[in-house]
Amino acid sequence: MHTNENITTERPTFVTHLECGMEGDHYEADRLHGLSKAGKPLLVRYDLEGIAAAVSKDDLAKRPPDLWRYREFLPVRKLENVLSLGESHTPLVSLSKLQAGAGELIVKDEGRLPTGSFKARGLCLAVSMAKELGIKKIAMPTNGNAGAALAAYATRADIETYVFCPDDTPEINVREIAAQGAKVWRVNGLINDCGRIVGDGKEAMGWFDFSTLKEPYRIEGKKTMGLELADQLGWNVPDVIFYPTGGGTGLIGMWKAFNELKQIGWLTGKLPRMVAVQASGCAPIVKAFEEGTEHAELWENAHTVAAGIRVPVAVGDFLILRAVRESGGFATTVDDDAILAGRDEVAQKEGFLMCPEGAATYAAWKQEVASGRVSPDETAVLFNCATGLKYPMPPAEQSLDCTKPIDYSTL
Ligand SMILES: Cc1ncc(COP(=O)(O)O)c(C=O)c1O
Repeated sequence: MHTNENITTERPTFVTHLECGMEGDHYEADRLHGLSKAGKPLLVRYDLEGIAAAVSKDDLAKRPPDLWRYREFLPVRKLENVLSLGESHTPLVSLSKLQAGAGELIVKDEGRLPTGSFKARGLCLAVSMAKELGIKKIAMPTNGNAGAALAAYATRADIETYVFCPDDTPEINVREIAAQGAKVWRVNGLINDCGRIVGDGKEAMGWFDFSTLKEPYRIEGKKTMGLELADQLGWNVPDVIFYPTGGGTGLIGMWKAFNELKQIGWLTGKLPRMVAVQASGCAPIVKAFEEGTEHAELWENAHTVAAGIRVPVAVGDFLILRAVRESGGFATTVDDDAILAGRDEVAQKEGFLMCPEGAATYAAWKQEVASGRVSPDETAVLFNCATGLKYPMPPAEQSLDCTKPIDYSTL
């Protein structure tokens, strides 16, 4: 019989409490929470010494390579609530032809996860916790991939889901959300308008609000990107990480992971510089970074081909900015032409089809090596957050008439 010991073995958990990311006040573990009293995201805190005493790097190495390998670093208490669709480790793919110096250029290909994107990590955890806390109905605004992951895991957990997407969300996303059992609507607005629909309807509808960072556990799922990356590199980290930043959960989660690993002594030395990549048509975090402010302002008329990073306002803005600044990184923009040219270049030269958001990180890396903010001798990891197959591709329009002789010299 097929068994995966990560999802069939009881393992201890170490959550002590939750903490407001802004004010630092504490909230009880194992209770239903949305935002803190100050209206800011809550962060899950652990007994890190307890984790270090319970599990070693060698113990982890013996477990199957997937998200639940890191169970002690995650909040789900009871095995019966652990959901899984097979969240295997995602590969590190070297782009050796495109690297610019001695530093390796590596893509972490998150497109291999269930539902084809890294949203599976966050929603796997958040829905497992929703199950543990007895939530019956969830609503979410989404640019597509998060809704698809929510639909999949919630259906597995028998939780009802209501999903709202901007009406220009890629068709494939809207259909996969519906196909996987959620109720889904297209809305003639942006993700923040969809978020308002959820907020205004949640009382009457009995919904739990699953907007990015408005529940505390998605970050913990995204944290596994950092745990896994360090694990794959032999408990080391790259010099610099490029992350396509919308709501920023992944960047915040990875930074949290690296700091937890540092506190238990599994990482020593310098942590990576975190680079938040946004599109020039929607760059609230970059503007705030450049102006030196703690919070970002709403970005008007947001537009970009990279739908996942079209997020005009992020409730965790200060956490993204804090991670970027603490790490010695920066925030930068690329325009849509550079994103699409980057996608085509990586596909044509390396045989690797990135999603537009992933391609934004490649375009940004290239731009910043040229600008000198990143050295070609630094090891850089780019996050390809979703499979490129979900997005419109350049046209391929040649055809042949097999009823006529073929002039092979024209092929
Ligand atoms: C493909 C892709 N990349 C990046 C992002 C942005 O992720 P985050 O919310 O962690 O900033 C999203 C979010 O929708 C996405 O779907």
